[in-house]
Amino acid sequence: MNQDQLKQAVARAAIEYITPKLQADSILGVGTGSTANFFIDMLGELKHDFAGAVASSDSSAQRLKALGIEVLDLNSAGELVAYVDGADEANAQLSLIKGGGAALTREKIVAAVAREFVCIADQSKWVDVLGEYPLPVEVIPMARSYVSRELVKLGGSPIYREGVITDNGNVIIDVHQLTILEPKKLETEINQLTGVVASGLFAHRGADVLLLGTTEGVKTIRPV
Ligand code: 5RP
Repeated sequence: MNQDQLKQAVARAAIEYITPKLQADSILGVGTGSTANFFIDMLGELKHDFAGAVASSDSSAQRLKALGIEVLDLNSAGELVAYVDGADEANAQLSLIKGGGAALTREKIVAAVAREFVCIADQSKWVDVLGEYPLPVEVIPMARSYVSRELVKLGGSPIYREGVITDNGNVIIDVHQLTILEPKKLETEINQLTGVVASGLFAHRGADVLLLGTTEGVKTIRPV
């Protein structure tokens, strides 16, 4: 199986996982990225079984709307039955690195509101230690240089993601060369830097379940 086939397999597994949880008034959180896109496309099959979705990006919102799924503003949605999204890295605690698609802040907000965070990923995302994938940090534009200097003090090598403006009008710094042994601690430290909107480290609110696509099939992994 190639990577896209593994992504399709976990998207299908997520559809099967959430179907029994959906009721007519349920609102679902939906993420961003190529794995999430496979999930969105399959979600069209269930569109009469739930009330609507909150999307973590404008692009996912458009994709949902194109399938006839109602997209709601989070402020009028109340609790979300679940949030389904991909990841760039996941460890055994189901702490994640996310934000490869620059949607990390909205992803973090939607995950916070969801009863259950269902992460979907192919086996290439599974790691012992987070940090090989550069950690995205969303920053207020005028704070970019200051935050970069502070990220160096935390042991990283920050690189400005040129030409990318987030849905919130901010910029992304990708932090290379991190070996993240204490994800919650680092998440807190980065959050405390003035000018940081959010980091792509999902440790305080990691995933509740990971559907991991492997060549032996989809594994359902809970945090250790
Ligand atoms: C977007 C994300 C994605 O979930 C992450 O980048 C994984 O993407 P893909 O499913 O395309 O591998 O965090 O901001």
